[in-house]
Amino acid sequence: MTYQTIEAQSIAGSLGAEVTGADLSKPLTNAATDDIQKALWDHKVIFFRDQDLSPEDHLRIAGTFGDVYRVPFVKARDDYPDIIDIVREEADAGKYNFGGVWHSDASFDECPPMGSVLYSLESPPYGGDTLWTNMEAAYEALSDGMKSLLDGMNAMHSAERNYGSGGYFNDDDNQSVAMDIKPSESGDARIAHPVVRTHPVTGKKSLYINPVYTVCFEDMTEEESAPLLGFLHGHAIRPEFTCRFDWTTHAVAIWDNRCTMHFAIGDYDGHRRHMNRVTVAGERPA
Ligand code: OGA
Ligand code: MN
Repeated sequence: MTYQTIEAQSIAGSLGAEVTGADLSKPLTNAATDDIQKALWDHKVIFFRDQDLSPEDHLRIAGTFGDVYRVPFVKARDDYPDIIDIVREEADAGKYNFGGVWHSDASFDECPPMGSVLYSLESPPYGGDTLWTNMEAAYEALSDGMKSLLDGMNAMHSAERNYGSGGYFNDDDNQSVAMDIKPSESGDARIAHPVVRTHPVTGKKSLYINPVYTVCFEDMTEEESAPLLGFLHGHAIRPEFTCRFDWTTHAVAIWDNRCTMHFAIGDYDGHRRHMNRVTVAGERPA
């Protein structure tokens, strides 16, 4: 996979590439914009290091992929309502960790985000890596029998376990020190999405379930769904489908939220980690 203006070096066999040759603090040429988009479709998550971004630069990069998605339940920055601060303080040691479960962002929404641009403002001295997994590869590796079973199924997604009225964040003990996360009754809603979705750009099929927001298969109970969902979740995070990014301050990650899951590792107790995220709107999964 070659590009006109950038180079992309894979960091793992299944997905993820580190991109060089782009300065994201400057408006991108059309050729560079095309290359970066193509690199994202090719690699599903791409990384840039040593980028000195203002909030305006950050918003501009995200804007090359689509409209901004306003993240529900998480309070945005006061000065930039389209940017969320993802912060874990020293005092969050041993508990709160945003993104610390395998998930695809906001799959509980009717139209979940297409992707995100995550920027590191302060990385801990060690730890705080993020993992991604390739849900296309996970789908491809299933047997033909399992693929055809899943091809016709829908699953119910909901924020209820995290942000619903009985969810994790409704417990005072689980509040973040720095982030303002507001659960509400709207978090209790459920929406059906296909278990296998087709990527609108590449036409490739991927698994579309995750252990946080997928509560059951459509027209089945949670108990009935749990064995197969459990198998699929375990299968989807087999190490060979994943990549791992070791953040450095001022690194950027852009991921395609439609064909990946990710996981933020909270292994830096006693240190601070500070990220900014701009989220890009997506379409209804088909
Ligand atoms: C996110 C998330 C990952 C991280 O921004 O969607 O899950 O590494 N965070 O902070
Ligand atoms: Mn996330």
